[in-house]
Amino acid sequence: MAAHAVVCLWALASLSAASAPDCKDLVKPFVPDDPKLVFGKWVYVMGAGDPEPYHKALESLRSSWIDVSPTSDSQTVTLRWGDHCFDRCIFGEVNATVSGLATTFRKNLSEHKGHILRTCSDCLLWTDTFRNGDVAGRFILQFSQDKWIPRMWTFSRSKLAV
Ligand SMILES: *[C@@H]1O[C@H](CO)[C@@H](O)[C@H](O)[C@H]1NC(C)=O
Ligand SMILES: *[C@@H]1O[C@H](CO)[C@@H](O)[C@H](O)[C@H]1NC(C)=O
Repeated sequence: MAAHAVVCLWALASLSAASAPDCKDLVKPFVPDDPKLVFGKWVYVMGAGDPEPYHKALESLRSSWIDVSPTSDSQTVTLRWGDHCFDRCIFGEVNATVSGLATTFRKNLSEHKGHILRTCSDCLLWTDTFRNGDVAGRFILQFSQDKWIPRMWTFSRSKLAV
């Protein structure tokens, strides 16, 4: 708790630096020149959520992936995901709307609005704010490209999805 307070104070003390020009690269949404760079399958590496129960949900993830694919409408992308958590595999699909820098989607009752931040060339760093009923929160999630995922895994996934 004490350490937490210190970290927060430190963050507050440096708030005035937030408008400094060198902060721009950290907060500026990343829009790839070629949208195809975002399409495909991404494997979840790590993330954080706020408030606490949403962070705990991430901690329970054993593995997770997302798959982003285009639709005939250039402003709509299909987001598919598979989560292994609480000893179950949960699959889902949603259509997300891309408008300017923001991407919005509704997953179950939770409304998300987020964007990509620049990170390493093979990674996807996603940040969003969401509202789920009375709760407002945020996520930051890092994904990595899945080129090295063995075919066997894909095979067992399709069996699990049945
Ligand atoms: C997403 O949109 C496509 C095409 O518009 C539609 O066929 C599909 O059913 C939609 N998926 C969901 C999960 O709403
Ligand atoms: C989706 O919403 C319904 C109704 O609130 C809830 O019962 C269910 O647990 C939710 N599912 C997930 C995966 O969050």
